[in-house]
Amino acid sequence: MRGVPAEPAALVVLVSGSGTNLQALIDACGDPAYGARVVAVGADRDGIEGLARAERAGIATFVLKVSDFETRAEWDTAIAARVASYEPDLVVSAGFMKLAGPAFLAEHGGRFVNSHPALLPSFPGMHGAEDALAYGVKITGATLFVVDPGVDTGPIVAQTAVPVEDDDTVETLHERIKVAERAMLVEAVGRMAREGFTVAGRRVRYGR
Ligand code: GRF
Repeated sequence: MRGVPAEPAALVVLVSGSGTNLQALIDACGDPAYGARVVAVGADRDGIEGLARAERAGIATFVLKVSDFETRAEWDTAIAARVASYEPDLVVSAGFMKLAGPAFLAEHGGRFVNSHPALLPSFPGMHGAEDALAYGVKITGATLFVVDPGVDTGPIVAQTAVPVEDDDTVETLHERIKVAERAMLVEAVGRMAREGFTVAGRRVRYGR
């Protein structure tokens, strides 16, 4: 039987859309043995279901839009500081459609993870499911990685594989990926929270 961790790890989750990955984390955090709690949810836009999910769960939210800042660097500094104000142990980008800049990585690098809907290093970028389908691969999936300055290039924490079916559209494939992605995210974030993790070069291992 798992013990209940003395102090749950504090998660800040960043979203830009429907927030089903966020919901999976919120649901998992309902079990004290999971070892984590979502202390805040941040977004780069208003009016998204991801923010509504957080509000329904009584979780603090914030929105910082790039267009409200003079420069991208100012937005980056502001969101880095806002996230830091919640003193997170782990920052999870779950469908957050913005790249972290230098200020964000200086503040949160090493404890900032992103979930991507493809088996990296294949199909990085904004259209992971669409690009895998167009290429014709038979297996794709999702990848959780520690964010570095590149585009979807950071050290890999976890991956999950999903078959591509002959009649898949981008939508059906992405939905199948997201089912597996949510399970992977919940498992990996829980282990990071309970066991800690180390990054040595490109190798990520659970444990302190
Ligand atoms: C996920 O597949 C994520 O990897 C991708 O966008 C999707 C977000 O889904 N970047 P949701 O907002 O968690 O439902």
